[in-house]
Amino acid sequence: MLSKEDFYSMKKNGKAISVVTVYDAAFARMAEEAKIDMLLVGDSAANVMLGMDRTAGISMEAICIFTNAVKRGAPNSYIIGDMPFGSDSEPKVAVQNAKRLIEAGASAVKIEGLPLESLKAITEEGIEIVGHLGLLPQTATNFKQVGKGEEEAEKIFEQAKILDSLKPCSIVLEHIPDSLGKKISQAINSPTIGIGAGKQTDGQVLVMHDILRMHPFKLPPFAKTFANFWEAGVNAFCDYKNWVNEK
Ligand code: KIV
Repeated sequence: MLSKEDFYSMKKNGKAISVVTVYDAAFARMAEEAKIDMLLVGDSAANVMLGMDRTAGISMEAICIFTNAVKRGAPNSYIIGDMPFGSDSEPKVAVQNAKRLIEAGASAVKIEGLPLESLKAITEEGIEIVGHLGLLPQTATNFKQVGKGEEEAEKIFEQAKILDSLKPCSIVLEHIPDSLGKKISQAINSPTIGIGAGKQTDGQVLVMHDILRMHPFKLPPFAKTFANFWEAGVNAFCDYKNWVNEK
């Protein structure tokens, strides 16, 4: 299994880090077979797996169940468990919840924004963290790009430097200008993982359902699709229905 040190070396040596979200054993097995560097059990599970409107709707229990399933499917992969909305607001509770995710099979926990005391408390317990800056879907009021203005860009840059000082396994940068993704990636030691943050981050993460095109909905502007599971799935179900009807 790759380690935090490996990800830092990859950054140093200019080797891009691939990250994909997965939520169950079957797709985690595929991602491990494809040698994806990190698997993220994202709270996007709320949307893509549970059909909710917002990521903030998912519970700690649900993320633990998904993480556990991913661990069973990909026992040799570095797995990041996403801390659900509200699960990190107070340091003591944050540590308890981070421990639950580690027990469920996560190698590290990802936290949106900068709840500094909670982040410190988790790292003091020896638990590896992944930061998440830029667009923060748990609390965002819209899904527009952030960090366009000088002041907002500077704030995100400063937050990245504070997170960097905690030596996270990596920092996700979501939906920010390419120039800011590049500036942060060059200024800090931690590997940066972009999603809509340009080509100059140290790695890339995308949601599995977008990569595989598993739904008929509009894709985010930064998503890229490598297959059409929606079409293949609908066709296969139609063929199955016809086969049943013909009997
Ligand atoms: O939950 C998720 O899928 C994420 C990615 C968008 C980074 O946090």
